[in-house]
Amino acid sequence: MIDNVWKDGLVRRFGAAAQSYEKQAEVQQKTAIFLSNLIKQHLDRKVPIRILEIGCGTGYLTRALYDLYSDVNQEIQWHVTDISEDMLKQCQSSIPAENNCGITGHKNIIFSVMDGENPDFEGPFDLICSNMAFQWFRDLEGSLHKLTQLLSPQGLMAFTSLASDTFDLWHRCQKELSIDRMAPEFPPAVFYTDSLAGLTVELEKKLFVQRHNNGLEFLRNLREIGAHSRDLGRNPLGVGELRSLLKNYESYFTDGVVEADYDVVFVLCSKNE
Ligand SMILES: C[S@@+](CC[C@H](N)C(=O)[O-])C[C@H]1O[C@@H](n2cnc3c(N)ncnc32)[C@H](O)[C@@H]1O
Repeated sequence: MIDNVWKDGLVRRFGAAAQSYEKQAEVQQKTAIFLSNLIKQHLDRKVPIRILEIGCGTGYLTRALYDLYSDVNQEIQWHVTDISEDMLKQCQSSIPAENNCGITGHKNIIFSVMDGENPDFEGPFDLICSNMAFQWFRDLEGSLHKLTQLLSPQGLMAFTSLASDTFDLWHRCQKELSIDRMAPEFPPAVFYTDSLAGLTVELEKKLFVQRHNNGLEFLRNLREIGAHSRDLGRNPLGVGELRSLLKNYESYFTDGVVEADYDVVFVLCSKNE
């Protein structure tokens, strides 16, 4: 029940951000391109025939992979999914029409609304991929397990996710003012190697910094990419509290620019078969 309420909120937030997302999601665009290059290197010349993408959003990773694979093999069966229909539609409209087969289409690229924690497709997939969506899963460990079950023997699961040092200073500022943490905690990188034990895992961690003119702009940016979550049951901050928090955050910067750190893990895993 709590999960349903949380997920409904998540779908609403990301749906509302579908139009503004690409104007603001600078880090997500960089991670999508970096991830697609890692996938390309890892697969070398092998072309994945069945692909499942989770949490496609407006399509940064979808388009990067489309550039790599769409012309290579017409046999590709590609499932592009997101829990938010608005995000999915945005992604679909960004893919050239000849391959774009509609939400219920059955040709090359099939767009479907799907909760990545409960995939409704049967495996095996040669590539399961996701850019910056797994950090929103409620049962991340169980979901990783379910998804790896869908991999073909030589298949690759490749994803990025936010790790524990994301917005570190922002959260320290909340602590300094005795304000309860305003966002969910993301797991440390080691969580992924532990959860995927038994598989071959390559993990890379990278820090991305997004700059804003002030603290309020940082918060507005989170809203416009749909990432302004707070834990269930947490009351919104009062105006005075929010003002103090922003002032505290801004006090750590001297040149009129506020920085937000994104601690990103890049994970590539495959079965040892
Ligand atoms: C930060 S955006 C990333 C979007 C995109 N992958 C990109 O490269 O920009 C996160 C996306 O994950 C989706 N998402 C969150 N939880 C999900 C879930 N449980 N299943 C599927 N999609 C989910 C959201 O709707 C949103 O579109």
